Amino acid sequence: MKGMYSKKPILHKTIAISGSTGGLGQALCEHIAALGGNIIMLDRNKEKAAFLAARIKEKYPDTVTEYYPLDLEDFESVKQATNRLTEHVPDYIILNAGAYSIPRHKTALGYDNVFQINYLSPYYIARRLLPEIEGRGGRIVAVGSIAHNYSKTDEDDIDFSKRTRASRVYGNAKRRLMFSLFALDSKSITVTHPGITLTGITAHYPKLIFAIIKHPMKVIFMSPKKASKCILEGLFSETHGNEWIGPRFFGIWGRPKKTALTTCTSDEQKRISRLSDTLFEQLNS
Ligand SMILES: NC(=O)c1ccc[n+]([C@@H]2O[C@H](COP(=O)([O-])OP(=O)(O)OC[C@H]3O[C@@H](n4cnc5c(N)ncnc54)[C@H](OP(=O)(O)O)[C@@H]3O)[C@@H](O)[C@H]2O)c1
Repeated sequence: MKGMYSKKPILHKTIAISGSTGGLGQALCEHIAALGGNIIMLDRNKEKAAFLAARIKEKYPDTVTEYYPLDLEDFESVKQATNRLTEHVPDYIILNAGAYSIPRHKTALGYDNVFQINYLSPYYIARRLLPEIEGRGGRIVAVGSIAHNYSKTDEDDIDFSKRTRASRVYGNAKRRLMFSLFALDSKSITVTHPGITLTGITAHYPKLIFAIIKHPMKVIFMSPKKASKCILEGLFSETHGNEWIGPRFFGIWGRPKKTALTTCTSDEQKRISRLSDTLFEQLNS
């Protein structure tokens, strides 16, 4: 892919990435290793991470990989991984892990698990590590979604635990993550999105329907390898205001492009930001 994406050196830089074992995460790890970066895998499944690390080692023997356990549903695990990252601050963090149509329950913090996985935990990690990452001239790259536009926030149901539609619940969490990160107004934060691509997250349909749509989806949408370049570009590109980076054509196809989002009013963004500040203070106390 030509254009905005360019092979700028991340040689010997360390990139921590959550959800490295997923469809986009694996593709990102391959890109990072190919560019000479080292990887901290922030994952909940040690075996999957070890399998991926071995595959990367085989292809890119000079790449150093480490594994830090991280379960975004479990705030103790989130705190432990974050503390570890503050002791060995990476140059970049990609907040890539996410979950869409999964069985729902309240976490120990009392929030919907989809809300905690896609917003509360990654937001906490970003806030805790931002000063150190800024100090290093690095960057935090968050993965948003077009689905953020399916849900206006609701102060009476902040985690959408009263809602049932997966797209709305997931969209609300992504919306809160994206717009609270924009509100931090830091040169060291970039929000990205991959458009739509066939991965674990898009394979949530009933088996028969998935068997029918799987192949057309592969033809219609970009592969995870291509789509992940929009996230990778976040490592290299500074964004301003409510700009995010995603595929240039209809938000689903083509090379990475910065676009200014107008999908949230400044009033709603202020409310999102205020609540995020409050939640972060509570979690950090
Ligand atoms: N694919 C798309 O079309 C699309 C579109 C827009 C945005 N996105 C975003 O892209 C990111 C990557 O998703 P993907 O498409 O690669 O989906 P995926 O293949 O399902 O990968 C999701 C990753 O998140 C991890 N994860 C899920 N729950 C977790 C938890 N509680 N704690 C820690 N890690 C957890 C998964 O771990 P396991 O491997 O252990 O399951 C996996 O590594 C997500 O943020 C997603 O919202 C994807």
